[in-house]
Amino acid sequence: MKLVNHFSLQSYNTFGIDVKAKQFISVKTEEELLKVLKQTYASELFVLGGGSNMLLTEDIQKTVLHLDIKGVEVVEENSKEVILKVSAGENWHDFVVFCIERDYGGLENLSLIPGNVGTSPIQNIGAYGVELKDVMLSCEAYHRQTLTKKIFSNKECKFGYRDSIFKKINNPYIITSVNFRLTKKKHQLNIDYGSIQAELKKMQITFPTIEDVSKAVIAIRQSKLPDPRKIGNSGSFFKNPIVPNAVLEKIQKEFDVVPFFKINEDSIKIPAGWLIEKTGLKGYRNGDAGVHKKQALVLVNYGQATGKEIKSVAELVQLKVKEKFDIQLETEVNIF
Ligand code: EPU
Repeated sequence: MKLVNHFSLQSYNTFGIDVKAKQFISVKTEEELLKVLKQTYASELFVLGGGSNMLLTEDIQKTVLHLDIKGVEVVEENSKEVILKVSAGENWHDFVVFCIERDYGGLENLSLIPGNVGTSPIQNIGAYGVELKDVMLSCEAYHRQTLTKKIFSNKECKFGYRDSIFKKINNPYIITSVNFRLTKKKHQLNIDYGSIQAELKKMQITFPTIEDVSKAVIAIRQSKLPDPRKIGNSGSFFKNPIVPNAVLEKIQKEFDVVPFFKINEDSIKIPAGWLIEKTGLKGYRNGDAGVHKKQALVLVNYGQATGKEIKSVAELVQLKVKEKFDIQLETEVNIF
């Protein structure tokens, strides 16, 4: 555990933005974490996980606390199920691979999502019809001020679409581990999501295993989402907006085919990527900041873009979508 001053966060955020932390400290155990929490005022701390869901627009004038606590442990097991306790600093995709290698089912649709296990409950990560809330049993977190540990049940996390209790402003909790309930046999495969079926067909697979589903998801993601190690990005930059049916009907007057998902009797969800594409901004580029060529929901840093430049592109996208569709896009990524 070493405190470093004026530390560059470039390799600690998947956008690859070169801002500095006033101080940086990485903790590898809960004991180290508690030591830092005891020594530092809660308001002076900025907690960093995998850095995959943030846009940094300026230097952080605080102590950046990097959670690097590792470990995967079997808590309970029977012939049908296994419960795993996974430390916050484990890389998400490495953990998914670990489960697939042991034939533990439930996470295959969430393959290749950037980030760490500890931040996965914060925004209830999700892809291809599965969300974290479907596999998470509970998580453990420390309160920054009282230094007490609390176990949050799945219900207590108040999960929503890319949302949880931990996303609320002034959330005092730091998640240190997550417990997952996974299947050991009779896996419940989720392959209804259109492109998964098509991808499995392309792979000539009729009776898929969890490994096949994972491979299909990886292939789909690689075909349209940029690899953050090559092109800086934070996945979907905006949430898909949920709007009243009347908004969809108005759009359908202008466009023959509009993709949407029914939420309830009164409202639907429209893919923000489709809305952005229709404004003409897909592939837009200003210097090194831009809108990805293959998935308009993803903003990208082609190399030297600043956080402020990416933020300007985000504001332009919001403005154009508002002008054309009268829909206000909400960011999914946290901007600092
Ligand atoms: N679309 C376009 N143009 C685009 C992008 C998308 O027309 O540039 C259309 C597609 O043709 C499709 C629809 O929009 O009809 C949905 O696209 P896609 O399947 O790519 O999914 P998405 O709604 O854009 C969401 C999640 C992703 C997740 C995928 C797959 C959100 C904000 N994003 O994207 O999650 O991987 O579904 O389940 O809900 C993330 O959160 O970082 C993320 C990548």
